[in-house]
Amino acid sequence: MDKKVWYVTGASKGLGLALVKQLLKSGYRVAATSRSAEALQTAVGATDHDAFLPLEVNLTDVDSVSASIKQTVDQFGSIDVVVNNAGFGIGGSVEELSEQEVAESFNINVFATIQVIKQALPYMRKQRSGHIINISSIAGFAAATGWSIYAATKFAVMGLSEVLAEDVRELGINVTVVAPGAFRTEFLSQQSLVMSENKIDDYQTIRASHERYLAMDGKQAGDPDKAAGVFIQLAEMPEPPVRFFMGTDAYNRAVQKTKILTDDLEQWKTLSAFTDFNA
Ligand SMILES: NC(=O)c1ccc[n+]([C@@H]2O[C@H](COP(=O)([O-])OP(=O)(O)OC[C@H]3O[C@@H](n4cnc5c(N)ncnc54)[C@H](OP(=O)(O)O)[C@@H]3O)[C@@H](O)[C@H]2O)c1
Repeated sequence: MDKKVWYVTGASKGLGLALVKQLLKSGYRVAATSRSAEALQTAVGATDHDAFLPLEVNLTDVDSVSASIKQTVDQFGSIDVVVNNAGFGIGGSVEELSEQEVAESFNINVFATIQVIKQALPYMRKQRSGHIINISSIAGFAAATGWSIYAATKFAVMGLSEVLAEDVRELGINVTVVAPGAFRTEFLSQQSLVMSENKIDDYQTIRASHERYLAMDGKQAGDPDKAAGVFIQLAEMPEPPVRFFMGTDAYNRAVQKTKILTDDLEQWKTLSAFTDFNA
């Protein structure tokens, strides 16, 4: 049987690039998107063009997304694994961030993910097979001070994925949402990370949190090449997990949050039950 056909968004750097390189090295056929096909091609380097389809895609444009998925199927005959990877961090308090800053973040981190899924599903449904891997973040389960809008986008991806997994299971399609901890990519660099233009002096705790994150740039514990290997493993599993926390930091933060949730549930159990008609 032919190896799976992958479609990866946001592939000119970071996790997406590491994944595309490893896929090509392992003999998969790969369609990859970027805002710049040239940057993508340069980053991937010399490669077999029968196996690699670099696509310049505007992820906020339905027609552009739809055409890129059609091109993938036209070239390779199927679309087996979709990785919604493109995304960026956005820092600032809710009142500091402008409408436009918030909208851009949701446009890429959430609406582009939804659009790619909408365009890929008709092919996957017809195939009665496929795997959608959505990249959320540990911020989509246990978020940190100063990243509320980023957290909102990644919680959205988490919720969307959990239900989508239920919705498409009977069609032979798997869904996995990956929540990475800190990985050594361009994520915390000035080219990727967006900070609110507007800064309000009162938010000192947020500024301190941002400083701590920025100081982590280049020293993150997560290795993007190992992450790429894990994505490939997930896609080859007959029964992949719906949620996967990637990295020891993500695992620890998720465990800590789970404990907080359990404690909260128990503390407020009586009040929770109070609203039942027959309480
Ligand atoms: N690294 C981490 O610590 C970490 C932790 C948790 C979650 N994540 C998530 O992992 C995913 C990959 O991030 P990364 O760490 O690999 O970061 P990265 O090195 O900055 O790469 C991000 C990729 O996303 C695309 N992208 C970024 N901003 C975009 C925009 N405004 N419009 C369209 N595409 C955009 C870029 O695609 P092109 O430039 O090729 O168009 C780029 O290749 C993201 O969804 C991120 O939220 C990362």
